[in-house]
Amino acid sequence: MNQKQLAVKALEMRAFCYTPYSKFNVGAALLTKDGKVYTGCNIENAAFTPSNCAERTAFFKAISEGDKEFVAIAVAGGPAGEEPSEYCPPCGVCRQVMREFCGPDFEIILAKTPDDYKVYTLKELLPEGFGPDFLE
Ligand code: THU
Repeated sequence: MNQKQLAVKALEMRAFCYTPYSKFNVGAALLTKDGKVYTGCNIENAAFTPSNCAERTAFFKAISEGDKEFVAIAVAGGPAGEEPSEYCPPCGVCRQVMREFCGPDFEIILAKTPDDYKVYTLKELLPEGFGPDFLE
């Protein structure tokens, strides 16, 4: 599974979002160390705070299935019914969830199309993050 294939999966996941409030659809595809992919979409709620981002949906699916080692995540987001016109960066809460389970070189692929994506590392998007190592 290469970066482009992961980007395609994130883009495809935008079809499954539940976003009646923001109408902003985000898809994610999380690659494990052994090549498995967990997908996610954002799922909103009338009470707002129970809403879950696409990235955390993917992470929580993976963790709940016993996978805890990850190499990359692709994220694609933008207004529902349109192709993304911007790169959609993960929110702070999702970056913190990544910090819990991933190392500094974990790749975050922000995709507009299968051929137009930018790649960051977790240490670039969350410098000086607080993580489990501080509690050892
Ligand atoms: N959202 C995500 O799912 N991931 C991101 O990286 C940014 C924001 C969702 C949360 C909410 O459902 C909608 O996008 C608008 O903020």
